[in-house]
Amino acid sequence: MNESARVAAVPPTLPEADTGFEPGDGHEALAATPEALLQAVLAANRRTTNPRLRQILDALLRHLHAFALEVGLSYQELEVGLDFLVRIGKATGPEKHEGILLADILGLATLVGLIDAKQALAAGGTEPALIGPFWRAAQPLRENGAHIAEEGTPGERLFVNGRVLSLDGKPIANARVETWQASPGGLYENQDPDQVDMNLRGRFETDADGRFSFRSVRPSGYAVPVDGPCGELLHAQRRAIMRPAHLHFIVMANGYKTLATQIFDAEDPNAYRDVVFGAVGSLLHRFERQPDDSFRLDLDLKLEPGTMRVPMCPLP
Ligand code: BEZ
Ligand code: FE
Repeated sequence: MNESARVAAVPPTLPEADTGFEPGDGHEALAATPEALLQAVLAANRRTTNPRLRQILDALLRHLHAFALEVGLSYQELEVGLDFLVRIGKATGPEKHEGILLADILGLATLVGLIDAKQALAAGGTEPALIGPFWRAAQPLRENGAHIAEEGTPGERLFVNGRVLSLDGKPIANARVETWQASPGGLYENQDPDQVDMNLRGRFETDADGRFSFRSVRPSGYAVPVDGPCGELLHAQRRAIMRPAHLHFIVMANGYKTLATQIFDAEDPNAYRDVVFGAVGSLLHRFERQPDDSFRLDLDLKLEPGTMRVPMCPLP
């Protein structure tokens, strides 16, 4: 494209400085080849001001174009994919975050957790696990030793005794510990009209020795929600849909990186077949049966020094 044609292409309502049309920026005459197109698309991203956003978009564009080329994506398939994303958004609401579920079943949430915890893992920190779609904001603050299972919740009794520690084993006092779990029926309270609000959920604070404790019932495994587009995808892939029994934890303390993790029942039949790939080695624990037939779970949660961050909460 010659200079005058290039200037004529600028929309009249935009001041010239905002158009992004600069010599050599990729908006020259475009050869009809995938490589030329990719270079033009990458050039159009070069003026993105936020450097991290520019880096992420640059890599995303390169991988997206390479992916479409590799599979020879048709326009019809692109439409199906876009419709799938629209439906993920429509299926997301105060009851369920289908977008998180998608990241989970693709293994992306687990991967990002591993990337984030790379240094902590090398230094002996607790392995992370995805937060999933069922953490609720404003879980009730409870005293250490309290019951998180409301009266009438069926199931075997479970006593959880935890310590929050630094990487060198020092107790972290006043850490905030969020926990939530499914009932022995395999449902979270917000999915189940038979459970009271906030059942099997709680927020605790560690004492001077970094300890927290609560009573509950032994959780059971459950199927992830399959009533939305993620269910269609799992079905198309002929995948199993179970998660092994687990308790969720998010630990936040000043001066430490926030840890989101889960502790899994090593005896669950699906312990090695978690549909969201979260049940990794060191997070499988034995729930120890006691002489009175209750169960006991002892755990140490080790945090890496860093900046505390409150993760995005998927549910109100
Ligand atoms: C959960 O652990 O709560 C969960 C994770 C992924 C999908 C569904 C549930
Ligand atoms: Fe869960």
